[in-house]
Amino acid sequence: MTTEPAGLAGRTAFVTGAAQGLGYGIASALAEAGARVALTDVDEDRVRDAADALRREGRDVIALPLDVRIEASFERAFAGVLDRWGRVDVMINNAALTAHGSLWDITSDEWDEVLAVNLRGCFFGCRIAGRHMRETRAGGRIINLSSIAGQQASAASGAHYAASKAGILALTRAFATELAAYRVTVNALAPSAVESPALRELDAAQRERLALATPLGRFCEMHEVAAAAVFLAGDGAGYITGATLDLNGGRLMR
Ligand SMILES: NC(=O)c1ccc[n+]([C@@H]2O[C@H](COP(=O)([O-])OP(=O)(O)OC[C@H]3O[C@@H](n4cnc5c(N)ncnc54)[C@H](O)[C@@H]3O)[C@@H](O)[C@H]2O)c1
Repeated sequence: MTTEPAGLAGRTAFVTGAAQGLGYGIASALAEAGARVALTDVDEDRVRDAADALRREGRDVIALPLDVRIEASFERAFAGVLDRWGRVDVMINNAALTAHGSLWDITSDEWDEVLAVNLRGCFFGCRIAGRHMRETRAGGRIINLSSIAGQQASAASGAHYAASKAGILALTRAFATELAAYRVTVNALAPSAVESPALRELDAAQRERLALATPLGRFCEMHEVAAAAVFLAGDGAGYITGATLDLNGGRLMR
């Protein structure tokens, strides 16, 4: 009996914010699909532990420190992956701060911090991966984590968070346009509430309101977001670019 080779065998992926939550889930799913995966995060200890856990499952992964707010930090981490594996085929811009609260209370420091991690970090990630993929001429996949918060107003999300996630949709289209000629696709995932550490910060009333507002009547599961990322990273998604893939249980149909 022959076994199908894993869909992403021979590919190298770079995941930001991979120490926990969706970033870790996506890194794990990409590795399971056969990719070599660099897990990166500002939390050096936790990302090392996360990579160790995947290595114990037999996955080909490394951990690297990265603060996505700082372009030089991106350059160091990217160089680390190129030293080790020579290329990056799949870039996942996932790192973010999840921020709640009334827009009347957001301080200018909070605004700057959320935009720096979520939007500037995504811009640096798209640009460094895009430059590399343009040079290798081997094609590539860039996948950005947006959110339904960037598409639809909700009292559960801070305005700074929502603005950063809407900005990611614009960045996704801008990079998709620039990189299409190089067979690099750039797409966004827009989940609504996912069962994850960030969601556990909401109080019970907020959780119930969110679940009731969802036609499918439940929150998204982490493995469902990871499966969408694996799909967009794979050969079958080669004709999809500049798109936003909604994972929102029917909350926003368009
Ligand atoms: N969890 C949800 O319900 C949900 C819904 C929609 C979209 N999203 C998006 O999915 C992504 C992941 O969300 P999550 O819930 O797993 O988040 P999380 O808070 O659990 O994890 C975020 C990770 O990013 C890292 N990080 C923070 N600042 C960083 C920096 N400056 N540089 C590098 N890494 C940094 C953190 O250390 C952490 O490991 C985010 O982009 C989020 O906006 C999440």
